[in-house]
Parts: sequence; structure tokens; C-alpha cells
Amino acid sequence: MVKNPFYFGNEVYDEDFCNRVKELEELKKDIDVGLNILLYAPRRFGKTSLLKKLQNDLKNDASYKVVFFDLFSVSSIDEFIQKYFNVLAIALETTPDKILSLFKSTFSIRPNITATLNQNGETSFGLNFSKSERNNSLEDVLNLPLVYAKKMGVKVVVIFDEFQEIEQFEIEKKFRSVIQTHSKEVSYIFCGSKKSILSEMFNDRTRAFYKSVKHLHINEISLEDWEMFASVKFERTDKIITKEQIEHIYTITSGFPYYMQQLLFMVWDSTQRSVNDTIIKTALKLMIEREYDLYSLIWSNLTPNQKKCVKYILAFNGENLYANESLSDFSISATTLKSTLEALAKKDVVDRKNDRYYLVDPFMKLWVERL
Ligand SMILES: Nc1ncnc2c1ncn2[C@@H]1O[C@H](COP(=O)(O)OP(=O)(O)OP(=O)(O)O)[C@@H](O)[C@H]1O
Ligand SMILES: [Mg+2]
Repeated sequence: MVKNPFYFGNEVYDEDFCNRVKELEELKKDIDVGLNILLYAPRRFGKTSLLKKLQNDLKNDASYKVVFFDLFSVSSIDEFIQKYFNVLAIALETTPDKILSLFKSTFSIRPNITATLNQNGETSFGLNFSKSERNNSLEDVLNLPLVYAKKMGVKVVVIFDEFQEIEQFEIEKKFRSVIQTHSKEVSYIFCGSKKSILSEMFNDRTRAFYKSVKHLHINEISLEDWEMFASVKFERTDKIITKEQIEHIYTITSGFPYYMQQLLFMVWDSTQRSVNDTIIKTALKLMIEREYDLYSLIWSNLTPNQKKCVKYILAFNGENLYANESLSDFSISATTLKSTLEALAKKDVVDRKNDRYYLVDPFMKLWVERL
């Protein structure tokens, strides 16, 4: 049986990865000039895929070492220190002995480092420290990329995925004060999907990371790129999809990578030979039904005013929302609208591009329209 050539879920690699050529070029240039970067994009937009691709592209270049650290499952400072140490140790060196000697010589604490082999023959590294050593251990571990870069004469790139999680540990000040001396040798990429938290961290004057990064925006992958990507995959599996049908799917999903792949997956799955409009319509209906629980949960967490405001945005395509006529049509005052839009942005439900407001999740929009 021929395997479905589309994939949606976690990060994608190789032939499942579409485009992002410009973003990769920009990232590489920024790294070379020593910038730190903040990469924000909504959930399931392809952040991790892009950064893993960057890591992979730089893998064979001896002048770089790339460290990828996902903060998603980190729940305390101690865990942060230990997991970051383990990730650094694995990414930066090849043998346990080398790692131990490199790190031991640079620590201000007397580190108690362990190396254990798991069932798959992979080594994982532990760093044990007492409570009174926590602060110094954090500083030491944060400094490891710099120590390594200087000693080995390479550029170290540290990618923090889901960086917003750092907020809960209250180590921002320390973190920033340590890494701000690393700029020539180490580039940091901070990535995450919670725009409200990240923009406060990086745009609020009172916060440690204020204006310390370049913001890199990633947009939807273009229709032309999806056309190429999807038509080749249909062709190779002896099925037919037209340019117009891909365009239709692109319009439905607003080019959102996860939904684009999911809808293409489902359309491919229901197609014997040639795609038709009924297949697309049925697949779309099924997709919205599948995500029902997720959307109804988000919806039930909105206040009545927020629900009204979401419908208001959709009714006017997010444009000219403060026009008096539109406001009176929906019986909303300008002040209520302002505070409600802010609250919806804080919940990452609504965002704004230029002067237009829109729902961050294009399928949430389709779901609400069916209410
Ligand atoms: N460049 C791409 N080409 C093709 N599909 C992509 C691409 N980027 C993302 N996708 C689709 O989106 C899905 C999610 O990608 P990824 O996990 O990289 O996103 P993310 O932004 O890191 O998500 P999250 O916010 O959940 O961490 C992938 O499984 C794939 O279906
Ligand atoms: Mg991700």
C-alpha cells in the first residue's frame, strides 16, 4: 500500500519540509554577525521544523556547533540547570572524558558530574549540586557555550525552543546578565508560541531581555511553494490534484502549515485517482469536527464579552472595528472593545497585522463561523 505522503504533528524533516529558504538564509546571516534572535510564531506554524533544519544545515560545517534545548518539559530552576547541562554536554563534545575535563576546568563550583549509559547506548550527563551552589551552578552552565566557543574556536549557536517557559523560574536577570557577554562567540535563538508572554519579556522596558534581540518573523509558506510541494507528492503517488484545488485548500487554511498538511493528508486519503470538490468539502468538515473539543475548550474559557468580540471581528473581517456604525450594530462601546481585544491578545486568540484584527488559528475561525 502506498503511504500517505503528507504529515502533520511534530516537526518535519527532509521531503516533508517545504521551503523556508529565505528564513534560513536570514537566520544564518544573523548568526554570523553575532545577533541574538527572537522567533515568534503561532502554535503549529513550523518553528521547531525551521530551527531543526537550521541545526541540520549547520551540522557538517566545522565552524559551528549548534545546541538545541526544548524548555517545554522543564519545571524548575534545578531541572533547567541539569537538563541544559546535559544538552550542552551532548551537543558540544564527543566523549564523556572530554566533556568532564572541559567542564570541570571551567566551573566555579566543584561539580559533581555523572555520565550514564541508557539502554540505547546513549550517554546522558548529570550535574549534582547543593542548594547553596544553585546560583553558581546556573552561572557556570550558562557560561559553558562561551567557554567552549573560545576554547575550540567555533561559533556556538544555542536554540531555546519554547523559551517563554523560562518566565516561571525568575532567572531572567541572571540569564541575561551572563549571556550578554557572549555575543561574539555565541548566538542565541529564542523561540516560542506564546506571543503575549514573549513580547512582554522582550519589549517591556523593565524586563531583563528588553530590546536584546532581533525579531524574526516567519510568515505562511507561499502558495507557489505549496503548489509545488503538494502536486509533486500527488503525482508521485499516482493521484491528481489541480493547481486550483491546491489554491482552494490554501485559502481555507490561510496557508497555515499544520492545517495545510492535515487537509492535504485527508484529501489524499479520500482520493482514488482525482481530487474533486466534494472530497475537499468532506475532509474539511471532518477536520473541524475532529478539533471540536479543542475549540470548544478555548471558547468556553472566553468571557461573554470576548465571545461577542470574536464574532464582531469575524463579522467585519477585522477591519475598521472602531467605526461608530459597526460598534452600534454590535452594541459594543469603544472602551469595552479596546480592553476586550487586549484580553483576547493576551490569551493568544486574537492578533493584529497592520490595522486588521484576526483569529490566530484559522480553523478556530471556521469553527466559530459554524456556531
Ligand atoms: N516547512 C514546513 N513544511 C511543511 N510542513 C510544515 C512545515 N513547517 C510545519 N509544517 C507542518 O506543521 C506541523 C507542525 O510543525 P512544527 O512542530 O515545526 O511547528 P511548531 O510551530 O514548532 O509547533 P508548536 O507550537 O506545537 O511547537 C508539522 O507536523 C507539519 O505538518
Ligand atoms: Mg515546536
